[in-house]
Amino acid sequence: MAPLHPLTARRPADPLTGQIRVPGDKSISHRALMFGALAVGETRIDGLLEGEDVLRTASAMRALGATVRQEGAIWRVAGRGIGGLAEPADVLDMGNSGTAARLLTGILASHDLFAVMTGDASLRGRPMRRVTDPLAMCGARFSAREGGRLPLAIQGARDAMPIHYRVPVASAQVKSALLLAGLNAPGQTVIEEGVATRDHTEAMLRHFGATVSVEVAGAGRIITLSGQPELRARDVVVPGDPSSAAFPVAAALLVPGSAITIANLGLNPLRAGLFATLCDMGADITVSNERTEGGEPVGDLAVRYGPLRAIDVPPERAPSMIDEYPILAVVAAFTPGTTRMRGLGELRVKESDRLAATAAMLQAAGAQVTIEGDDLLVHGAATLPGNCTVETHMDHRLAMSALVMGLATDAPVAVDDAAFIETSFPGFAALLASLGADIS
Ligand code: S3P
Repeated sequence: MAPLHPLTARRPADPLTGQIRVPGDKSISHRALMFGALAVGETRIDGLLEGEDVLRTASAMRALGATVRQEGAIWRVAGRGIGGLAEPADVLDMGNSGTAARLLTGILASHDLFAVMTGDASLRGRPMRRVTDPLAMCGARFSAREGGRLPLAIQGARDAMPIHYRVPVASAQVKSALLLAGLNAPGQTVIEEGVATRDHTEAMLRHFGATVSVEVAGAGRIITLSGQPELRARDVVVPGDPSSAAFPVAAALLVPGSAITIANLGLNPLRAGLFATLCDMGADITVSNERTEGGEPVGDLAVRYGPLRAIDVPPERAPSMIDEYPILAVVAAFTPGTTRMRGLGELRVKESDRLAATAAMLQAAGAQVTIEGDDLLVHGAATLPGNCTVETHMDHRLAMSALVMGLATDAPVAVDDAAFIETSFPGFAALLASLGADIS
């Protein structure tokens, strides 16, 4: 086992100031590599997140026969065409990444090949039936451990069938896996979601030349993909990840007097729920220089410290900020009043049980927290003692949330293991230090 890598955050003497960029969007980076491997020709990716999760996807695409090369800031992927991936010679290890594992299972389900997939202890504990059950309807066969967990053996369908499926949980990973499988099935794949989730797959399908239509149906959407298109290699520019920006944004809202700007940030409305929620709490957040790049909205986000008020966050917000609840809970812990975050059942099956782990993190620092069903209630205070070590459970977002919390507590906050921050936010501590944070 790798040695633990502890880190400690302390309250800085001065406000956080400056302009930064955060690393590339993780969701878009995985998809860019996968679409590059399925397209004919060479895809150039600018701004790819070089975090461990995405590097696992790059390795898997190589193992399936695509050529993936890094040249300075640009990544080049020479694809094999839809249906053209080769059988991997060895087990595909997706590390800590649920997105890599779920989306790749979709791709493999409609390729006539055999593959075995595994991951680290966190990923091996996460549910896979949410993708393998519907993918079996395409004709793929799966064997897995008890509960459908990794390692997973996949025999992809020889002649995949298109499916019509209503996704029972709000999950962009499930939706995307089914659309990726549908690429190599004849006819129309129709995926219904009861509530809209991030739509990077749909945007990238269009970008690479597939025909996809999206019908709004109440709070949800019906997505129809025409199968077996010829995907053509395209250039992809990856914007900064709003889920990574969440941490410096929260830090600026917790350290008095701070004012920071995050340039070149992805602002897809289906990802920007945290910023909307913080504005509802009274945060001073403004967007400038708005533009569209590669079908994705991008802009610069400026944040200023100021008073916040507790609110009730409705369950409909969850899909657009599903990864941001731990850091929102940290902000809420310093906001007078009770912030109630509703409908967080999905947090139980993330990199850790994030509902329980977020509550434990706040309690360790002296905050008052309650879990009622799928709701998290944080009873805010003007100050918190801190002076604790938070267990991060192989979960990058818990580690970063705890360290941001330590920028505001009376005494320092340590995390037992910060190594997993590398999965999504390489250079996190140094980037926050460039704004004036004390994390070492
Ligand atoms: C992701 C979707 C989300 C999110 C994950 C990335 C994606 O998972 O938590 O970090 O890239 O599609 P679910 O779709 O399972 O909610």
